[in-house]
Amino acid sequence: MKTILYISSSARQFTPEQVDHQSISRALGEAFIQEFKVHYSQTEVIYRDLSVTPPSFISTDFLAASFGDDSKGEQQAVLAESDALIQEVIDADVIVLSSPMYNYGMPAVLKAWFDQVIRINKTFTFDLARGDKPLSPILSGKQLVLLASWGEFDFKKGDSQYFMNHLTSHIEQLAPYLGAERFFEVASEYQEFNDKRHLESKAQAFVEAKVLARELALT
Ligand SMILES: Cc1cc2nc3c(=O)[nH]c(=O)nc-3n(C[C@H](O)[C@H](O)[C@H](O)COP(=O)(O)O)c2cc1C
Repeated sequence: MKTILYISSSARQFTPEQVDHQSISRALGEAFIQEFKVHYSQTEVIYRDLSVTPPSFISTDFLAASFGDDSKGEQQAVLAESDALIQEVIDADVIVLSSPMYNYGMPAVLKAWFDQVIRINKTFTFDLARGDKPLSPILSGKQLVLLASWGEFDFKKGDSQYFMNHLTSHIEQLAPYLGAERFFEVASEYQEFNDKRHLESKAQAFVEAKVLARELALT
């Protein structure tokens, strides 16, 4: 059996029967999951919709508890949400993040999720004996897939405006702390222009998402 943790984060929803104002990143996510299941029938999907259930922002109590003694009852309560979200990451073989670009980066709900799951002694250790690189991930062996949509263009890796894309670069930098050994991105561009370039980019993104789903299902 393979387990996919599917995190969605767009403020827009996706329902196949509607036409207007549909989330493209969510549509890419649905296509990826469907194709993965075609090639690997024993797939379990954990759905985590961050716009329907936004993670809490971390607080003073959260930090005190996460850096403190894990065994105290009150500390366990403040960490319960984080524990549950981390368990979903631990259980996953493939983590699929569907995300819009908001203000050149990730949506706040997705950043709140990362702040909940990247936690000391749970997903990374910190040891000054390692010198100037004291952080080390705990989890391993996972694949991370980012399925993204944005309104402008030339934001893909290697393209001229990639330096403005703080969505992909940020998530790729965090990937090891989720235990991801490989990072993949598929993106649809030009949404704000709603022209031929957008239709072509979107169609290409669906093709790439399905090819990637097949590849990851069969490896
Ligand atoms: C609040 C907000 C901020 C946005 N900021 C950017 C941006 O900085 N750069 C960009 O290229 N597109 C931006 N867009 C356009 C979205 O990235 C685009 O609509 C994308 O399709 C959203 O993903 P979704 O279709 O999955 O909801 C923004 C849209 C919204 C609603």
